[in-house]
Amino acid sequence: MGTPEGLIVRILITGAGGQVGSELVATFSADDHHEVIAVDHATVDVADRDAVLGAITSTRPDAVVHPGAWTAVDACEGDPDQAFAVNALGTRHVAEGARRVGAPVFYVSTDYVFDGTKAEPYIEWDDTSPSSVYGASKLAGERELDPGSTNVRTSWVCGYHGGNMVKTILRLAGEHDTLSFVDDQRGHPTFADDLAVMIKRLVVERRPGTFHVTNQGAVSWYEFAREVLIAAGQDPDRVTPVATADLLPARPAPRPANSVLDNAALRMSGVALLDDFRVPLTRLVGRLTA
Ligand SMILES: NC(=O)c1ccc[n+]([C@@H]2O[C@H](COP(=O)([O-])OP(=O)(O)OC[C@H]3O[C@@H](n4cnc5c(N)ncnc54)[C@H](OP(=O)(O)O)[C@@H]3O)[C@@H](O)[C@H]2O)c1
Repeated sequence: MGTPEGLIVRILITGAGGQVGSELVATFSADDHHEVIAVDHATVDVADRDAVLGAITSTRPDAVVHPGAWTAVDACEGDPDQAFAVNALGTRHVAEGARRVGAPVFYVSTDYVFDGTKAEPYIEWDDTSPSSVYGASKLAGERELDPGSTNVRTSWVCGYHGGNMVKTILRLAGEHDTLSFVDDQRGHPTFADDLAVMIKRLVVERRPGTFHVTNQGAVSWYEFAREVLIAAGQDPDRVTPVATADLLPARPAPRPANSVLDNAALRMSGVALLDDFRVPLTRLVGRLTA
């Protein structure tokens, strides 16, 4: 959204208390050009149509950024109705409210819309084929978006706020001599603060369509755990690789073996991609262990 000097652009952010939501609030609040309306689960349940329409039409934002979602992947598997009520129907409500005030929606979606069987990284135009309820519900959310909306797919999100794998790895490293992580699921670790900066850029530039937005550097969880220990100044050889099939009991929701999202649309648009994940990882570990 190219803004004339002095004009304030009003951004409504759903799921504002989450990992990504809280970084979006911080990123948009960091300049004088944006006014942030932060709504979270407690204020506005996106599954509640009246609440969503009321929140959007009473504040008339210029854009709606929508990371709010039920992200508990295994719990979604056991309660498909709730997963679709929040992630699909909730996104329908957000799209409807935004349509009423003429605001574009910037939806945050996931690598789980793919089944992970492709040998190469996924590009934005690859066919989707979710293998979990969570992935299917997020894909259904994508399909609720109007054509002028923006769909940001990301993966393996870690950040300062909320629970994530960096915090889990550091905790386990403090409790055990050795750690086991799977070596047959690969992805692009993505840091919520970097992701928020790129989403803000997409909002400011009003770029519609689907974009894969991740930090760069594809690793397995095993390799990522090693990198976390390196960033924390610990011995990475304490991490041992294990196959997903050997993890018992198996988790309710299948995980894609290949979660690597090629940021092809950004690359082809000439937009500089986010840093290699080791840069924000070092920053985050420093902040968490300070
Ligand atoms: N985390 C990842 O690795 C990852 C990877 C790919 C894509 N994504 C996507 O990125 C987005 C942000 O994820 P995140 O990591 O920031 O997850 P998160 O920390 O779980 O944040 C999601 C937020 O949505 C809120 N929420 C849940 N149900 C809601 C409802 N019915 N109405 C309104 N808000 C609701 C949550 O509030 P409560 O906690 O209070 O319920 C939370 O504040 C999601 O759309 C997710 O699908 C995440």
